[in-house]
Amino acid sequence: MFVSVALFFASALLFLLLFQNRRAKDFPPGPRAIPVFGNLLQLNLESPLADMEKLAKRYGNVYSLFIGARPMVVINGVQALKESLGRQRCFLLGETKKPNGQSCRSTHAPGVVLADFGPCWRDHRRFGLMILRNFGLGKRSMEQRILGEIHTVIKVLDESVGKAMDPHLLFHNAASNVICQVLFAKQFDYDDEFMTFFVSLFHETSKIINGRWGMIYDSIPMVRSLPLPFQKAFRMFKAAHERRLQMLAESKQTRVPGKPRHFIDCYLDELDKACASLTVNRRDEDSTFSEDQLCALILDLHFAGTDTSANTLLSAFLYLTNYPRTQERCQREIDTVLDGKDQVSFEDRHKMPYVQAVIHEIQRKANTVPLSVFHCTTEDTELMGYSIPKGTIIIPNLCSAMVEEGQWKSHHEFHPENFLNDQGEFVKPEAFMPFSIGPRTCLGEGLARMELFLILVTLLRKFRFIWPEDAGEPDFVPVFGTTQTPKPYRMKVQLRGADMKNPNQTSSSNCD
Ligand code: HEM
Repeated sequence: MFVSVALFFASALLFLLLFQNRRAKDFPPGPRAIPVFGNLLQLNLESPLADMEKLAKRYGNVYSLFIGARPMVVINGVQALKESLGRQRCFLLGETKKPNGQSCRSTHAPGVVLADFGPCWRDHRRFGLMILRNFGLGKRSMEQRILGEIHTVIKVLDESVGKAMDPHLLFHNAASNVICQVLFAKQFDYDDEFMTFFVSLFHETSKIINGRWGMIYDSIPMVRSLPLPFQKAFRMFKAAHERRLQMLAESKQTRVPGKPRHFIDCYLDELDKACASLTVNRRDEDSTFSEDQLCALILDLHFAGTDTSANTLLSAFLYLTNYPRTQERCQREIDTVLDGKDQVSFEDRHKMPYVQAVIHEIQRKANTVPLSVFHCTTEDTELMGYSIPKGTIIIPNLCSAMVEEGQWKSHHEFHPENFLNDQGEFVKPEAFMPFSIGPRTCLGEGLARMELFLILVTLLRKFRFIWPEDAGEPDFVPVFGTTQTPKPYRMKVQLRGADMKNPNQTSSSNCD
């Protein structure tokens, strides 16, 4: 008996010694971690942001957590975020990603979101930006594409006039179609099978990746092959990969080299160039372009370009319906600036400081990508007096800057004046960083800003959006995730001309 008890305690001690998570000297401080789980059980996995805020108050703006056995450094506040993300030394490491990482892409290529900081990432980031520009970003044609898509959104809203409708799918469909026009030169019907497949892929997989299953998958490798919900995400990504291969095969059959119709054709032209250089120079290892990488890149742009913009638009209407005076003030500014014009242009934003301020305040409150994408140190480094070894995961807590005391006129309230100076001009404080900062800053920022402005202005010009009488109190706390989304809600749609006929119709919730 004595021997068994002694053996039990000896093995428990050995287990603790082997698996305990220790912080090295000068490593950022943090809560005590337990073997195997690390600090996982100390965080509310449904939404760890509040716990992370408390930890920052206790340990400072640079602190560490163990997720499983893996140490991670959480960066909070404008100063620390600028010092860390602004550097070239932070890069992204595919293998650390949640189930949306390499393993579930069904390709061996990293794409761009999860690519290490190196030639492959650099080439593809440059290529992606170049194509977005050539297909009209900053020029009129991208604007026309977005405005064209808005007509479809208006049709759907016209059918809902006088009723309460759930906008969730609508904005995902619209955002997906904008990026599909660049990727495939196609605008799908909202009930098209391709559209419903990809929109539900983004919706479903975000839920799985973002929730507790994503965290468990990340931190406890031994559960990865068990039949748990993340397997569904793997299956869906595999099916998505088949679709992309189909699109690629179709493009190859119908393309005319040198006359690209869309992103895929441009990429295939680039591959042709790489092959030509191979024949001339007899070296192919210099090119980072490949069909596998093309498939990964298409998924990155389609996913990142749909879920983020759509969820920001959903937050926009959640706030606008509950802050009717803010909505009306936007509409007055829009009416004045667009008086006599058929449609808005992106340039008009310079004449609409209040609308700009409202859009930015919506983004600040929406916190659509609260923890950015995790980064990783490429070499031993120092940050705010701490030593951080090479290979440490860095979690940029972007939302900590968006509510940082001292950075905003009002950091907790919905307060568009955060983005207006005393003269009523639009200003952007440096703490505003929804697209992150530094060399890995969002590649689609320009497109996203154009979409948000054109869609919101066009819809606010034509419609009035009302919080329904039977909807109860609004819940502004989003569902946590890599991309956060507002909880499902409905909104009532009214044609603005009808304001005059029914002046008593007001939003049942009035937060402003
Ligand atoms: C409101 C909308 C959007 C928000 C809030 C947003 C936010 C972000 C954030 C926080 C990152 C991580 C940056 C980092 O690692 O430090 C990111 C990366 C990225 N985003 Fe966006 N994004 C939005 C829209 C878009 C759109 C429309 C596209 C596609 C055209 C896009 C494509 C990407 C790509 C490809 C990356 C990876 C960049 C890289 O690693 O070099 N995003 N985005």
